[in-house]
Amino acid sequence: MRSLPEPWRVKVVEKIVLLPREERERLLVEGGFNLFKVPSEGVFIDLFTDSGTSAMSDWQWAGLMQGDEAYAGARNFFHLQDSIRDVFGFPHFLPVHQGRVAENLLFSTLVKPGMIVPSNNHFDTTRANIEVNGGIALDLVIAEGRNPAADHPFKGNMDLDRLRHLFEESRGSVPLCMLTLTNNSGGGQPVSLANVKAVAALCRDFAVPFYIDACRFAENAWFIKQREAGQGDRSVAEIVRDVFSYADGCTMSAKKDGLANIGGFLASRDEGLLELLKQRLIVIEGFPTYGGLAGRDLEAVARGLREVLDESYLQFRVGQVAAFGAKLTALGIPIMQPTGGHAVYIDAKRLLPHIRPLEFPAQALSVALYREGGVRGVEIGTVMFGHTDPQTGEEIPAPMELIRLAIPRRVFTNSHLDYVADVLEHIRDHRDELRGFRMTVVPKVLRHFTCSFAELPPPAAYAASSASVAVSRW
Ligand SMILES: Cc1ncc(COP(=O)(O)O)c(C=O)c1O
Repeated sequence: MRSLPEPWRVKVVEKIVLLPREERERLLVEGGFNLFKVPSEGVFIDLFTDSGTSAMSDWQWAGLMQGDEAYAGARNFFHLQDSIRDVFGFPHFLPVHQGRVAENLLFSTLVKPGMIVPSNNHFDTTRANIEVNGGIALDLVIAEGRNPAADHPFKGNMDLDRLRHLFEESRGSVPLCMLTLTNNSGGGQPVSLANVKAVAALCRDFAVPFYIDACRFAENAWFIKQREAGQGDRSVAEIVRDVFSYADGCTMSAKKDGLANIGGFLASRDEGLLELLKQRLIVIEGFPTYGGLAGRDLEAVARGLREVLDESYLQFRVGQVAAFGAKLTALGIPIMQPTGGHAVYIDAKRLLPHIRPLEFPAQALSVALYREGGVRGVEIGTVMFGHTDPQTGEEIPAPMELIRLAIPRRVFTNSHLDYVADVLEHIRDHRDELRGFRMTVVPKVLRHFTCSFAELPPPAAYAASSASVAVSRW
């Protein structure tokens, strides 16, 4: 049997263009070799993020027409409330315009200077929201989750021994514990139901509130159904309810598994906490029945949260990512194994061993992808997670040098991904010619968004023949 094709048919199309190579080169230089600064119209296949890039269904678009744009008490707020209650089981929530505002609300209230917030891996905005409040964001993913080559069905799991140790050593200074489903910064790897239960039990023993970063909750549940003993006969909807029944609340960016282009929420069982946060919400987002969103946006999320539980969709979605990963592996391109739910992560350290971590090998690879084929991926390595040691002033590289090719939901067909694989095959054959980078503008917070680079001179052996890099097949 061939694998399932896309379980939808195309109703509207959007033109994409591969600019001539000189134009791509110009945009790279103008943007300081930072792909965040390249305009979207300069990109052919945009695999920058799966966040906010989903194609909405006809049912969601129909819902947009039913947006109630009243300032207070819009009907779409109540639809979203019903969805959150039905899908996750949380009775109370605050809508926000995207996930990081939910993080901002939670951490600005619960985190005090010096406090430690553990997670499997914090996403960059989660980390930043903890750190701007003086807290310490601690990653406690299992050892396999830190090794791109290690095979494990649930590489996103929390290391329970280290979590217990932290709770024992730091009584009173852990205001909450997070768990990211799936684990984006660790490769989109899932967390098992057993691990969720065990983390929740530890949190209960030490009276630490347990919150889930729920961005990719449905993809995570699909992995549980596929991989965890005893879960295969349950529906994804049931598994989701089960997972969230162990949590005190969640932060959610609906730009991922909400299948919406904007939106998010903070849900909690602690009504008192939400009452407190409501005051801050009003200052930074708006009235608590719209939270920075239009009524129509609330409706798109309310519908997307239900729609994402469709198992034929999830089977295709996770299968498309896995097939793309298998294709790259067959080409000898090292990727994080096994593939996660929303993206393929290429291990630039292994592909480009001649570029030192402080010369940003994953950045070099993302520039090459754009230069050679108009494809945009994102660096998840030393640009994003490197930092300066406050004591010694030494630059510390990130533990992994990955480039993430995130697959937007319901947007690209398998033939788009075949083209990306072709571009990568070409780069593989010219990999020794790729050059490292030096950061010329180094912002203090979330530096990858706004930094600039200069390209280092070519390795001596290729200085004379660097023109060959400039010959693109496309
Ligand atoms: C795991 C995770 N948490 C939080 C966020 C932040 O969400 P938003 O971009 O909607 O602020 C993201 C975004 O990519 C994410 O992947």
